[in-house]
Amino acid sequence: MDFSTLPVDSLTKDQAVFELERLAREIAGHRQAYYEHDAPRVTDAEYDALERRNLLIEQRFPALVRPDSPSRSVGSAASARFNKISHNVAMLSLDNAFTDADVADFLGRAQRFLGLADQQDLACTAEPKIDGLSLSIRYEKGALKYAVTRGDGKEGEDVTANVLTIADIPRTLAGAGWPDLIDVRGEVYLSHQAFAALNKAQEVAGLPLYANPRNAAAGSLRQLDPAITAQRPLSFFAYAWGDVSAAFATSQMEAVACFAAWGFKTNADMVLCPDVASLLAHYRDLGLRRAELGYDIDGVVYKVNDLALQERLGIITRFPRWAIAHKFPPEQATTILDAIDIQVGRTGALTPVARVRPVTVGGVVVSNATLHNEDFIAGKALDRVTGQAVRGGKDLRVGDHIVIQRAGDVIPQIVDVLVDRRPADSQAFAFPHVCPCPLQTPAIRGGGDGEGEQDVVRRCTGEFACPFQRLRHLEHVVSRKAFDIDGLGPRQLQDFFAWGLVKEPADIFKLEHHRADLAGKDGYGEVSLNNLFAAINQRRDIDLARFIFGLGIRHIGETTSGVLARAFVSWQAFDEAVQAAASHRPGEAYRKLEGLPGLGPAALKALLDWAASQTEAGAFTGQGNLFDDVAENLAKLRLKEVAMPARKALIGAFGDWGSLVATVKQAASQRPGDAFIALAALDGMGEVACEALLDFFAEPHNQGAVARLLAEVRPRDAEASRQDSPVTGLTVVFTGSLETMTRDEAKAQAIRLGAKVAGSVSAKTDIVVAGPGAGSKLAKASELGIRVMSEAEWAAFVG
Ligand code: IVH
Repeated sequence: MDFSTLPVDSLTKDQAVFELERLAREIAGHRQAYYEHDAPRVTDAEYDALERRNLLIEQRFPALVRPDSPSRSVGSAASARFNKISHNVAMLSLDNAFTDADVADFLGRAQRFLGLADQQDLACTAEPKIDGLSLSIRYEKGALKYAVTRGDGKEGEDVTANVLTIADIPRTLAGAGWPDLIDVRGEVYLSHQAFAALNKAQEVAGLPLYANPRNAAAGSLRQLDPAITAQRPLSFFAYAWGDVSAAFATSQMEAVACFAAWGFKTNADMVLCPDVASLLAHYRDLGLRRAELGYDIDGVVYKVNDLALQERLGIITRFPRWAIAHKFPPEQATTILDAIDIQVGRTGALTPVARVRPVTVGGVVVSNATLHNEDFIAGKALDRVTGQAVRGGKDLRVGDHIVIQRAGDVIPQIVDVLVDRRPADSQAFAFPHVCPCPLQTPAIRGGGDGEGEQDVVRRCTGEFACPFQRLRHLEHVVSRKAFDIDGLGPRQLQDFFAWGLVKEPADIFKLEHHRADLAGKDGYGEVSLNNLFAAINQRRDIDLARFIFGLGIRHIGETTSGVLARAFVSWQAFDEAVQAAASHRPGEAYRKLEGLPGLGPAALKALLDWAASQTEAGAFTGQGNLFDDVAENLAKLRLKEVAMPARKALIGAFGDWGSLVATVKQAASQRPGDAFIALAALDGMGEVACEALLDFFAEPHNQGAVARLLAEVRPRDAEASRQDSPVTGLTVVFTGSLETMTRDEAKAQAIRLGAKVAGSVSAKTDIVVAGPGAGSKLAKASELGIRVMSEAEWAAFVG
C-alpha cells in the first residue's frame, strides 16, 4: 500500500496510520545515513518535505502521533565509536520557515505569546545558517574541558581530542568576564577551498570522495585518529551557548560580541533587524552573496535579540520559540528525464538538451537542463573540478530518475542519476550521427578548434546549406548583445525564414520591401509591422563592437568584439587590419613546429632564423642528408636556444634530417606577419580566435554577406581606450555593491580608461574596488596583498 503521494487533506485515518509509520521509518533511516554515516541518501529539501508531511499529518490527527515520531526527536543517536557525554542543556534544532509569510507568522506568534501589541516590533538578529554540524564546547574557568557533538540533542559524542586540532577554537578563553562554566556552541564547517583540497587528497590516496563540505566536515570531526582531523582545516563559528554558571549578556548581539572578545570567530554577516522587512532584506542579500561567502549556508537564522524575551518564549519540544531558520529554496531536486532533444547551434554543434518533468529548484520551475554533449550523456565526460567521470560514470537514459541542480544563475545541471530506480526497459541513448535539419547532413565529431573540443562536439557538416544553422545565426544577429532589435525574436525569424523573406542578415533590413506580403499574415498587423520596421531602422547605425559581435564569428565573443572595436576604432581600419593579417598567416609547417611540446618560442625562432639564413647550396642540405641523423645534426648546428627539450621534441617528431630541414625551411617562409602577430596579441584574442577571424573573412560566402549587410547599416566608430590613464593596462575587479554607478557602468568606465576588468581575484589582479557587502573576493585580495580601494578612492584615483 502506498499512500505517499496522497495529499494530507485526503488521507483517511487508517491511511494516516500507515503513512506515519512509513515516515517514521524513512526519516529514521535518512537521519542515520546523514548523522552517523555522513552520507545522505536524499537532498536536504526532500528530507525537509518528509518532516513537513509527517508534521502536517500529525496536526490533522493529533491522536495518532507515535511515541517514536520524528517530530519528537532531533538528529540521531550518538555512535558507539566515541564516548558519550550528555548535554546539561539540550541542543535544540530550529523550526523552518520557507516563505516570507512563514517569517511573518513566526514574529506574529512570538508577539502574541509575549502579549505585545501586534504592530510592536520585535528586534531580531539575522545571521547565516551555516551548513556544517553543531558542536558544544565546555569551558571551566576559561579552560576547554571537552567538546561534544549534538547527537540526539540530549547526549552526543565526545570529540574533544579532535576539536583540540581546530585552530578557530581557543583552548583557553581570552579577555575577561566569562562565566566560570560555559558551554559555547556553534557550527563546525569546511570552507569551499578546504573541501576541494580534501577531496583532491582523497582522490590521490584512492579514497572515496565526500559529497559536500558538510559531510566532509562531519567525517573529519568524527575521525578516530585526531592526527587525521588535524590535517583537515576545519573552521568554527560561535553563535549560541548551553549551560552557563552566570548570565554574561542581555542580548544575542552582546553575547556574540562576548564570544568574539573571548577569541572565537563569529560571523560578520550577523545583523540586528528592527522588523520583518529588514529580516527579509538581509535574507535576500545573503541569498545573492551566497556563492561568494566561501562556505555553504542553507538559509538565514532569525533570533529574538532580547535574552529576557527569549527566556519568556521558551521552547516547544524540539525548537526554541524565539528562533527560526529561513531556508533558501532547495537548489537540488529529483525529477524524471522525459526526453533528450538535439538542438543545432550557430556553428552547427549538435547540443543535447534534457526535457525534464517540471520541478521547482532554487525557487524556479525547471523543465530543461543542459546535457553538454554526447560524452556527458554517456557518463564518459570528466568533471572539471574533480577530474572524475561525471555521475561516477553512470549514463543517462530517457525515463531515468535524476537529481537536478540549479545554483544562482547557472543553467540547471543534472548532477546524478538514481540507477536503482531506472525503468527495466530503458536503453542507452544513441546520439544522432546526422543533423536533425531536413537535409539530414552527416554530423561528425572532430574539426573543432577549441581546446579538447574536437573530440566532444558533434557538428553538422551542412554549414550555409543547413537551415537550422542559418536560423541560429540570424537569431544571434538580432540578439540583445548584437543588433538588439525589439520585436524581432526567434519566433518572427522562424516565420520570415520559412516564408523566404529573410535568408541572411542583410535581408532583415530589406524586410520593409515585403510589407505587402506580410500585411495579410496572422500576427503581423499594421501597428506591429510599423513598430518592427521602426525598430529595425533604428539599428542601421550600430556600435562597431555590436556589429563585429553580430557577425557570429567563432571565438569572437562580446568581450573580444569590444577589444577589437576599441583597438581599431573604425570598420575600415578593422577591415584593413584583418586583410593585412590574412596576407601573412602562419602556414601549416609553421603551426606544426609551433605546436610541438618542448619546442619553446625562443628555440623556434632560432631554428627558423637559421633556416632563413641558409642558401639552397648551403651546409645543411649536404651533410644532413648524408648522415640522416637528426640528433647529431642538431648538435652540429650549435644553436644555444635549441637545448635538450627542444631537440628531444624535434627528434620525436622527425624521423630523418631531410624532412626536418624541409619542414623548418618551409616554416621559415610561413612565419606570421607583424599584422597577424599584432592582431593575435590583442587582449583576449590569441591565435585560435585570430585564425577563426581570418577564416571567417576568407570565406567568399561570408564576404558577400558582410558586404550586403554593410550596404544596409553603418557601424559607428568606437571610442579608443585611453593609453595614458592611471589604470591603463591594469587589471581591476569590482566586488560588493557600488553606490554612485552600476557595476556595468563601472566596468565600462574602467575599460574606456584602458584597464582590464576581471571577474575573479587572482595574482594577476592589480586593484580590487570593494563596496559594501564585499565577501570572498575582498578576503582573497587581502590574502594576496592586492591594493583594495573603496568606490570613492577609485573615483579619485581615476579622476
Ligand atoms: S542557533 C537553539 N544559529 O542549524 C538554537 N543554528 O537546523 C540553536 N545552524 O542545530 C541553533 N547555523 O546546527 C543556530 N547561525 C546559526 C546556525 C545554526 C547553522 C545549525 C545548527 C542547528 C541547526 C538547526
